Order: sequence, then C-alpha cells, then structure tokens
Amino acid sequence: MTDAEPDTDMEHQLDTGTASSQHESESSPTDRDDTTEPVSIADPELSATAIDRVQSVLESGALADGPEVRAFEREFAAFCGADHGVATSNGTTALHAALEALGVEDGDAVITSPFSFVASANAIRLAGGTPVFADVDPETYTIDPDEVERLVTKRDDVVGLLPVHLYGLAADMPSLLDIADDHDLFVVEDACQAHGGRVAGERVGQFGDAACFSFYPTKNMTTGEGGMVTTTREDVADGVARYVNHGRGETGTGGYDHVELGHNYRLTSLAAAMGRTQLERLPSLNEARRENAAVYNEELAGLPIETPTEPRRYRHVYHQYTVRCDDREALAATLDDHGVDTAIYYETPIHRQPAYESVSTAATQLPAAEQAAASVLSLPVHPGLSERDRRTVVDAVNDHYNRT
Ligand SMILES: Cc1ncc(COP(=O)(O)O)c(C=O)c1O
Repeated sequence: MTDAEPDTDMEHQLDTGTASSQHESESSPTDRDDTTEPVSIADPELSATAIDRVQSVLESGALADGPEVRAFEREFAAFCGADHGVATSNGTTALHAALEALGVEDGDAVITSPFSFVASANAIRLAGGTPVFADVDPETYTIDPDEVERLVTKRDDVVGLLPVHLYGLAADMPSLLDIADDHDLFVVEDACQAHGGRVAGERVGQFGDAACFSFYPTKNMTTGEGGMVTTTREDVADGVARYVNHGRGETGTGGYDHVELGHNYRLTSLAAAMGRTQLERLPSLNEARRENAAVYNEELAGLPIETPTEPRRYRHVYHQYTVRCDDREALAATLDDHGVDTAIYYETPIHRQPAYESVSTAATQLPAAEQAAASVLSLPVHPGLSERDRRTVVDAVNDHYNRT
C-alpha cells in the first residue's frame, strides 16, 4: 500500500477547498451513521451542484448533443492526460466505436481478458473481430503480459490488445505497450472501472491508441448511463466522433453528409452536466475509496482471505474491493446476516458464457481466470460508507473467522 503513487494532480479539486473537505460538504460519510439499512455494495449519489447544473441544462432546452458535451469531453480528456475526448452513450459503445475507428475488420483477432464484464469482449465481436483470451495474473486479475506475448507469437491474426483495468487497478501497461510496439498492434484500454487510476504517475486513459470509460451509476463517477473515449490520436478521435454520430462528415454541424456507416451513440447534455460535476469530485471520491480500502487492508490482515494487491508504482482506485477465499458462499452468508451486501464480479469468466460457445471451446484453458471466478467476493468500498459501515463490514468478516 505505502508504495502507491500519490495522486499529486489536484487540478480538479473544487473551487471551494481541498478534495477531502469537498467530499465532506457534498456527501458526508457520517450521513449514514443513523441508518439501519444494509451496507450496500454501491451507493451512487449526486451533489447539490450536479442537480443545479442539470436543472440549468433542462432550462436551456439544449438537451441532446451540444456545448455541455464538448466541455465535458475537453475536461475529461485533460484529466486523463489525453489530447481528445469523445463522449458516448455508455462504456460498451465507447469500446465499439473505438474499435471501429481503429479499423477492426472481420476475422481480426484482438486479445483481451476473460475475467471482465462481458462488454469488453462483446465490443470486439460487435466490431467484427474475434476476441482471443489471455489468462490473467492471479494477483492483479489483469491480463498477464507473458500470456499475451505467447498468443501474439503463436497467431498471425492479432491486430490489437484490449487490456482491462479491473476493479480500479490498471493492467501492466508498460509491458503491454512494449509487446504492442514489437508486433505493431493497437492498444485500447478498457478503463471502464478505473477512472483516475495510475501507472507510474500517469493516469489511465492516455496509454495506447484509445481508452474507454463507463459512467454507469456504480462506477467511480457517473452520468446515469454514459461513456467516453480518450485518445492522443486526432485521427482516432475524428473516427470515433463520426461513428457515434451516424458517420457524419462534419461532426456537430447538423449536416446530412454521411461519409461512412455509423450509429447514434451520443451522450446527452444532461448526462454531460452530471459528468462535469462528478469529474470535479472524482479525486475526493477516489480518495474516500482508498481510505476505506486502507482500513480493510489493516483490519482484515491475518485472516484466511487474500486482500487486493496494489503493486508498486500503481495507484488503485478501488472501483471494487475484492477479496478471495476458499469459503466465499459461507463468508457472503455471514456478511448478509450482519446486513452487509456483497457481490461476485464475475462468477462466470467470459469464455465460459453461453454466448461465447462459438468463440471458445471446452478445451480453452484459462486456469487463473477460472480460479479467480470461483473465489472472488467484493465488499462495499464506495465513498458513501460511514465509519460505522466500515466497522460493520470489518466486524462481520472477523466474526466469520471467529476473530473478535
Ligand atoms: C470492464 C468493463 N467494460 C465495459 C463495461 C461497459 O460499460 P457500460 O455498462 O457503460 O456499457 C463495463 C461496465 O460495467 C465494465 O465494467
């Protein structure tokens, strides 16, 4: 933990003060001290500022695409250290549009993780490509660069890599970028779970050819539904902007020249208004997640569970706090008895999903992903947790293992 990269970039602190004081003023963790409701696995919450800004957009009448969306794109890209941002209707459409803009064609193989939300691989298929699964590192749950290298060397149809920054921890981008360089592959980061995560001081969203984010309500920041592609490549930004807007030649002009096939994957101005306020709060929201994780790491040490890894020079933003153990169902039942919600992300690895029968065979061997799928359990780590909630979680886990 202590080797983690500090989040030195404070440009998104609120005008009103420090990141942590903002978090307190907008969403006090002590709000929950009086409640007897279960400790939920996610608790999306919008500040009064967000509600005001959404109201202004409502009153303006400019509800669909427009200047609010352009501002959100600029601000989010700047936060990530990328040159361009293109807003999309959700994370899946961000991934699909990015792969279309990168020119994936029928039969092209793209290497991704089998241990992710299904959208990571679905986007490859939607673009006409074939997902090829590289097994994960059992410590970090992100794709193992040695496995990637092995697959790239063995096959001659691989055109790109789509690593997933799972649970808020970035994949091993330095190694993956080296492999991509050596074999002339594109890289699309699936950063849908890692807004603000870092590798060696650099935020996710600026590595490779494109990166894709989701703003679903359970994510580290939300717009209800929403997504974003960030990139340092102008051609990719232009391609994504065309694809999400019916292949229009002149994006944003309202013209009807359609130079290529596209979709309506646009974000609304209402969502962008929410996104802009959430982005301002993201550093403090992530900090609250990290504080919750630090308490769990300390209080759960020594129990027969594996707590999350944060490798040196990585900054984990704890979209999930995921432990693994041999008695997951029993632990989840004890936590439920104590009023603590848990969740399993993901019980079935993608290559074992019925929808993937045509892609992977029974012989597909990805043991690390399968073992992870059989043993992971996520505990509540969201920024709305009160001190009492954390204590409830910690006591429940200790109680399960008969430690008082
Ligand atoms: C890793 C990952 N990729 C892609 C997505 C898709 O995002 P969305 O639900 O916004 O379409 C998600 C969302 O859960 C995700 O967790």
